[in-house]
Amino acid sequence: MSEPSRLTESSSEGAVSVPHPTDAAAVSQAVDRALAEIAAAADLAALKDVKIAHTGEKSPLALSNRMIGQLDKSEKAAAGKVLGPARGRISKALAERTVVLEQERDAAILVEEAVDVTALPVRRRVGARHPLTVLQDQVCDIFVGMGWEIAEGPEVESEWFNFDALNFPPDHPAREMQDTFFVEPADSHVVLRTHTSPVQVRAMLERELPLYVLCPGRVYRTDELDATHTPVFHQFEGIAVDKSLTMADLRGTLEHFARQMFGEEAKIRLRTNYFPFTEPSAELDVWHPGAKGGPRWIEWGGCGMINPNVLRAAGIDPAEYQGFAFGMGIERTLMFRNEVPDMRDMIEGDIRFSQHFGMEI
Ligand code: PHE
Repeated sequence: MSEPSRLTESSSEGAVSVPHPTDAAAVSQAVDRALAEIAAAADLAALKDVKIAHTGEKSPLALSNRMIGQLDKSEKAAAGKVLGPARGRISKALAERTVVLEQERDAAILVEEAVDVTALPVRRRVGARHPLTVLQDQVCDIFVGMGWEIAEGPEVESEWFNFDALNFPPDHPAREMQDTFFVEPADSHVVLRTHTSPVQVRAMLERELPLYVLCPGRVYRTDELDATHTPVFHQFEGIAVDKSLTMADLRGTLEHFARQMFGEEAKIRLRTNYFPFTEPSAELDVWHPGAKGGPRWIEWGGCGMINPNVLRAAGIDPAEYQGFAFGMGIERTLMFRNEVPDMRDMIEGDIRFSQHFGMEI
């Protein structure tokens, strides 16, 4: 029985208290300490330290186990019966605590990494096509559906195309400074086009006859920006040149267009007017069935049969070919179609204005 006393001495010196392998009470105490620490381990990292302390090479029971080799044969069996189950209890407790702590860790991760599927998305807006562009495309689609072509012309235009070829007399008031942006130097005779009508002439010069062409585009006038004017706006010009075209063809085309735009109940009316480039000329009104406050007539644009002088300027014989033309403002069309009271909302670029029309990308 000298062994236990020797071990007690070494423990009193501060070394690990190693129970004698046959000392069931001391072994049981070591097990109790291990079980208490296992139960107290708050997480897997703490449990790992406990495991090393109680099952590692230098743990009390491992050292105790090593002592078995030096014991008498008779004591060896007894020691095995004490230490074996003792170490088994610790391993089992470790395994059980590991399962519990792993479950706790997984549960904590689920909470930490939880995704709130009801949260509003943080999304970068790609933006919307502007309602004016959408409307312009819609107009083009209607005419393409009738077999027309789409044409573009320059916005910086020669005065000849913008005025002279369109039969504007040299002293016509529309040429004066209050309407037209002239590009310097003044004698360059270059303007920012005041309407899309110069494309009439360009189309007639460039294309084979017969021709059916729609030209949408930006135009410029020296107007102050207010609720119903903007110095930069959009028009579309329609031009048809063919043999034996009459005012009835113009009417039929515009009526079909009006119905496509505003519904089957839409109709048009033509009121006598004057444009230098058309003869006869008419003001075009549309019966807008969906107008707020009830259906009503709305001034929509200008139209007429192409003036023979304009045909001649484009090298076309008016005895053989006739043509009609019409022109409308896109801003104005959007204003009355969608009840937009202030034109400035269309040009300020506020995304909320476009959103109101739906985010068409
Ligand atoms: N260009 C004219 C305008 O800007 C409209 C129009 C076009 C009139 C074609 C008749 C024919 O007011």
